[in-house]
Parts: sequence; C-alpha cells; structure tokens
Amino acid sequence: MSLFVEVLNRVAPDEDYRELIEGTVASLNRRILEVIEDLETPIDVQLVGSVAKDTYLVSPDIDIFLKFPLTTSRSKLESEGLFVGKRVLGGEERYADHPYVHGEFNGLEVDIVPCFDLSDPSNLKSAVDRTPFHTEYIMERLDEEQRDEVRLLKQFMKGVGVYGAESRIEGFSGYLVELLILRYGDFESVISTASGWRPGIRLSLKNEESSAFDDPLIFIDPVDPSRNVASALSLESFSFFIHSCREFLKEEGIHFFFPREREPLEWKPIEEMLQERGTKILMVRLNRPDLIDDNLYPQVKKTLLGVRDMLTRHDFVVLDSGHYVEDEVFLIYELESLYLPLSKKHHGPPVWIDHGERFLEKWNKEGLSLPFIEEGRWVVMAPREWTSAKQLIVENIDNSSLGSAFRDKEGLEVLEGEEISCTESHRKALSSLLDKRKPWEL
Ligand code: CTP
Ligand code: MG
Repeated sequence: MSLFVEVLNRVAPDEDYRELIEGTVASLNRRILEVIEDLETPIDVQLVGSVAKDTYLVSPDIDIFLKFPLTTSRSKLESEGLFVGKRVLGGEERYADHPYVHGEFNGLEVDIVPCFDLSDPSNLKSAVDRTPFHTEYIMERLDEEQRDEVRLLKQFMKGVGVYGAESRIEGFSGYLVELLILRYGDFESVISTASGWRPGIRLSLKNEESSAFDDPLIFIDPVDPSRNVASALSLESFSFFIHSCREFLKEEGIHFFFPREREPLEWKPIEEMLQERGTKILMVRLNRPDLIDDNLYPQVKKTLLGVRDMLTRHDFVVLDSGHYVEDEVFLIYELESLYLPLSKKHHGPPVWIDHGERFLEKWNKEGLSLPFIEEGRWVVMAPREWTSAKQLIVENIDNSSLGSAFRDKEGLEVLEGEEISCTESHRKALSSLLDKRKPWEL
C-alpha cells in the first residue's frame, strides 16, 4: 500500500463516517431552526468550515454560522447568537476575537458562531464575516481528488506540529491549506515547492494588487485582497515547515504524518545533558489563569519574553527559553549562570569632560574599586543590583512586562538547582525545552 493511501485510510472519512457526520449536521440544523423560530430575527443557518468543504479529517469540529441581517445591532447579534448556541449545545461561551458557543453534539465538537450576513466581503463588520465566503470559494473550486490532497497536507502539518492558526500553534489554517492545494495542485507539489520557500514569499491565485505585508508567508485572500490568509503563521512555524518538507523529500515516511507520542525524558538524561553543557536551569512556575487557549497563549508568550528581557537587561545570558502549559504554567530558562559577580564594569565620561568630577565623587565612595582610566575614559568596578537570577525574578518581576493575566503573579515560585526535581511536571516542563528531537525522529 502506498504511503498516501495508508494516510488517507486513517484520516479520510469512509462511507459510514460520512453518514454519521451528515446525520449529525442534519439534526443540529433541525435543532437550531427550532430555537430560532422563537426569536424574531430572520437568521440564516450555514454550515461552514471543513465539513461543508469536505476537507475534514476524522473527528472534525462542525462549524455552524448564524448569519444575522446587517441591520442587527452588535449586542443583539451577540446575545441572540449565544442564546441559540447555548440552547442547542449546552456548551460554553467563548470569546476569542468574537463571541461563540463551543460544545458537543452527538459526540462531535461543534462551534456555533454568529456573524453578519454580507453580500460582499469587502465591507466586513466583524472578523468572522469572511468565513461563509471562504467556504463558498473553496466549495466551487476544489475538485474531489484535491480534497484528499488537502487531507494529506493537513495531516502532514498536524504530524510535524504546524497545523492550526490558533495562538498555541501559530501555524497554517485549514483555509490556507486549501488555497495551497489550489495554487500548486497537489500535496507533493506543495511539499517540493515549500522546501524552497524563503521568508517574504508572496502567493496569490489571481495576481491581484494588494497592500504590502510584513509576514513570513503572504497568501492574498482571493475573497478579500486586503488580507493575508497566512497572517497568523509565525516565523518559527514557517521555518519548521520548510525543514519538515526538506526532510520528507530526503526520506518519506509515515512518521511525518503520525509521529510517536513524545514521552517526557527520564531524570537521568536530563541531568546528564545539563551536566555536559554546564548550563543552568531556572524555572518560573505560575498558576494557570482560567482562560481559553487562544487568550492564554499570547499572554504566556508575552510573559516568557518579558522575564527573559529582564534577565538579559541585568546581564544574565539566556541561551534558550521555553514554556510549558498544563494545570500550571512553567517558564523555563537555560542560563549560562544563575549568579553573577557583585562587581560590574561601569563606564564613565572621558577624562577631559567637566562633569567627570561628579563621577569621581560618587564612585570614590561607592565603587568596589577606585575609578581608573581606560582609553581616556573613567571606569569603575561598581556593585550590581542583582547577583542572583532567582532573586531578581522573585523581587523584581513587577518591573518586567508581564501578560495581564499574570500580573497578579498567582502561585509564583522560582526554582533553581535542587529545587527542580524529578517530579513528572518538572520533567515534562524540562523536556519541552531540552528534547530537541523533531516529531518524526521520536
Ligand atoms: N471559525 C471562527 N470561529 C470559530 C470557529 C471557526 O471564526 N469559533 C472560522 C474560521 O476562521 C475558519 C472557519 O470558521 O474560517 C473554519 O474554521 P476551522 O474549523 O478552524 O477550519 P476548517 O477549515 O474547518 O479546518 P479543520 O479541518 O481544521 O476544522
Ligand atoms: Mg473546522
């Protein structure tokens, strides 16, 4: 059996599965219409996303949009949209950049999302209003064979870890995958072309004029040329995808699509790695704020960088850093050293400048050495404010730029040396930083 057939056998729906999905969509639709009947607003119900486009992988989420007349006020759209969603799914209300309800129906994940019913995608009232146009665009153009090519590419990206535009992944959206298949024809052509991508590449289907974008990959949205479909893709996911394509072209394998599960490293190899490198680990633990992933991850990343910048500002050399989010949040830093000497070389003005006097006055008293001259300038060994990375964070974290959900620092603990132990959560957090094997190498 060829590799691609094997992949499709595992992720493409068979007849029975299609029936299950279609039946579920039909009863969802009926339920929604029942609830809508009691409202006065004429709401149009539309199945969108990969189930509508027949590009879904087994266990898809079902995306249903409630299209409200343009004259509806935003507050009414939100309240009635959420009302319908809650009545049909139970489920929970979610707010990313727009409100919707997420829940389960017949064992499948469902999103019910209110939007405005536009006649033309150039006059958006909310970010989700394009979605029905995307769905229509793809349904009209993607042929049956290409739908399976989309599935192969989605599963490849899932396997290597770059599928999904959500902020946890910052990768390729389903719509972007479909456009790539339309642009290049099939899975293998996308892989071979992408292996030669460079940041700044600009793709489109119609060669339209458009504004300039400063993203690693630019794919002009055929239904709205003012938008880059790949705007959520980070440079990291973009480059990781390029590397994955190159490795796949060297030697194809099922592991790219279905990697083995990553087990946390044992304690011993972790110790050995650190011992061998001579580096030091610092872990910042925080309580996990009660937010949905799409709101949580940007804040985790912001906090990770904020603390890293503070360490760097105070002369600690950060070699690598990473985050690990489960029931708690860990920020992990690999440092050259946890401690710095008290003394720091402090440069003053050239000797011939008048206010050199002030420098001498201050540092004659406060210096760890007397001021001395180096290449015509005053220099002194001055005491540093922070000599311990841990102490810097514990006592000074408020002076770093933290994500708003972490400003209360709930559950803050800073761990170093022996305080980091072989418990499962510590091992998992450390592995997320130290285990650099690619998914297909596991
Ligand atoms: N969408 C949205 N809000 C949601 C869910 C979906 O705006 N809560 C929109 C997305 O922006 C996208 C479309 O609905 O344009 C479908 O989203 P998604 O499920 O992420 O992509 P699919 O094409 O359905 O791909 P997948 O197979 O991954 O589900
Ligand atoms: Mg979907």
